[in-house]
Amino acid sequence: MSTKKIAVIGGGTMGSGIALTAATHGIDAVIIDISEEQLGRAKSYHEKQCARAVSKERMTQEESAEAIARLSYVTSMAEGSDAGWAVEAATENVDIKKKIFIQMNETFGNDVVLATNTSSISITDLASAIPEAQHRVIGMHFFNPVPVMKLVEVIKGNNTSEETTAATIALSESMGKIPVPANDFAGFVSNRVLMPMINEAFHAWSDGVAEPEDIDSIMKLGCAFPMGPLRLADYIGLDVCRDIMMVMYNGLDKNPKYLPNEKLVALVEAGSLGDKSGQGVYNYEKG
Ligand code: 3HC
Repeated sequence: MSTKKIAVIGGGTMGSGIALTAATHGIDAVIIDISEEQLGRAKSYHEKQCARAVSKERMTQEESAEAIARLSYVTSMAEGSDAGWAVEAATENVDIKKKIFIQMNETFGNDVVLATNTSSISITDLASAIPEAQHRVIGMHFFNPVPVMKLVEVIKGNNTSEETTAATIALSESMGKIPVPANDFAGFVSNRVLMPMINEAFHAWSDGVAEPEDIDSIMKLGCAFPMGPLRLADYIGLDVCRDIMMVMYNGLDKNPKYLPNEKLVALVEAGSLGDKSGQGVYNYEKG
């Protein structure tokens, strides 16, 4: 196990944030994504964030150039196969993730930790796709925006080894994060608590308790949240919120309290996914 270079599978919001955090903490990071367009977006996000850090005097020009030089972008997993650590940050879909795990197991060395940034899916279930390497599979759940949020939720599967867990804690700390353990239940701790609150905000809106702006203002001003729950839902992605609720519904005895609110589902089905589509609970088209 070596953490001089990590491979991040998936160049979306979470993957690009994980790679940037590694690079600004002295760790090489290769982002692997089949989409050139996605890689281009990740690269410009990295350049913009490093330039901002220089302008805010959080980094020198030289440190920024070093961080940028630690980042690379490739379209095939084979091109990143020299990494000593791999973290999957692809779409929150169990079948897609299992296929990626099979490929990761074939590509990386047999002492490489195979981590997943899943926000809700069982680590034991994902690890079952690669029975011989289950001891190297672990949940390493980062939070958006990754460079800012301090937490990494660390989730062991049934067969995760102590060595894998200790190395994951050490890597999280070397990336400036605070690792906190959670057990392998659907949604872990973070989304088990957060998503029902977001869902309840949708119920409050649907029931006419208040308009979205007022629900968010009440929670921001009354409970000191940096964003209200509906604004946060748009920021996370309404499709992601719906999918996490469904993983918890299916994974926690089909308890109806985890069923996504109808308004949330209707927005997703209409293509209103939040910030990333320009329209969610709120409209972002005019910035
Ligand atoms: N990447 C890097 N840095 C970022 C960033 C990003 N995407 N977004 C904001 N920042 C930085 C800014 O650069 C700024 O730092 P600087 O001024 O020193 O440069 C700092 O964060 C504050 O940003 P802003 O001044 O633009 O705006 P805010 O003060 O409103 O903060 C926020 C923005 C940090 C996003 C804040 O609103 C917040 O903490 N919101 C809640 C986020 C949250 O709850 N995240 C968890 C989501 S759940 C999750 O991820 C789990 C998943 O499984 C669903």
